[in-house]
Amino acid sequence: MSSACRVRKAVLPVAGMGTRFLPATKATPKEMLPIVDKPVIQYVVEEAVAAGLDDVLFVTGRAKRALEDHFDYNGELENMLEARNDLEKLSAVRGPAQLAQIHYARQGSPSGLGHAVLCAKAHVGDETFAVLLGDEIIPSENQVLDKMFKVLAKHGGSVLLLKRVPSDELSRYGVASVKPTDDENVVEVIDLVEKPDPAQAPSDLAVLGRYVLNPAIFEILETTKPGKGGEIQLTDAIQVLARGEFNASAGKVHGLIYDGERFDTGEILGYITTVIEFATRRADIGSDVKAWLQKFVQGL
Ligand code: UTP
Repeated sequence: MSSACRVRKAVLPVAGMGTRFLPATKATPKEMLPIVDKPVIQYVVEEAVAAGLDDVLFVTGRAKRALEDHFDYNGELENMLEARNDLEKLSAVRGPAQLAQIHYARQGSPSGLGHAVLCAKAHVGDETFAVLLGDEIIPSENQVLDKMFKVLAKHGGSVLLLKRVPSDELSRYGVASVKPTDDENVVEVIDLVEKPDPAQAPSDLAVLGRYVLNPAIFEILETTKPGKGGEIQLTDAIQVLARGEFNASAGKVHGLIYDGERFDTGEILGYITTVIEFATRRADIGSDVKAWLQKFVQGL
């Protein structure tokens, strides 16, 4: 891809109400919940930065202060750790503030993911950009964004990340209707449905929380009416692009089929299993956690 069309900007919507985690999310966004000792959102920012997205825009809502403070310096804490010569903790505390150029836009009321993305319009301007859902961890080593950028370089337009899921789970996702391309992991997306009944789902390909979007999406979102749940759905706006109902210069929509790891921390069971899995992988506590888990399971 030429540098002129390199994707530089990442938009991370973090303005949802997080109702599934109340009361924990009364005063803090759910994206700030820790996976062992690091908030979910830091993994997501690290993934964006690893893919070369050095400009990160958070779309925040109420209770944004914890998030802003996390990605800022904290003089008092840093001075204390410096005085103790605790360099490891000092670097852990400074790290988030040094990751990327961080910007903020405000979503006045949580009117849906599509509306949150629209709040990024002024910052993104006329560039193709990435959207990363702040409650979904996809380990950086899987390089899904890099792979999506390669699909963009070949096909232009917009690129979604798709995963095959069992039919009883389809109603939790946007689901894509697709046509094959000459690459078996890449499909053309010709239609999308948000959270379909399994019987009505056009395929088993669910849309995951990583998107590479043509800026035409903003113009579409401006006229997108509230859909499922009374919210302005990003899926409904991408559907317009996929169906070719918008200006052809916005390009087509392609999907990269991904079968690697992802961790949905946006619902309670997914959050708990993510914490346990990440704890078992830790060099410091992993073997103790596994030993405890084995004992615990035997006692069930
Ligand atoms: P979710 O639907 O999972 O988040 O949105 P939620 O609405 O906060 O969760 P519940 O259902 O109340 O528990 C996916 C992502 O989109 C963001 C959320 O913060 C989350 O990261 N989002 C959602 C917004 O930024 N604004 C919105 O209006 C809706």
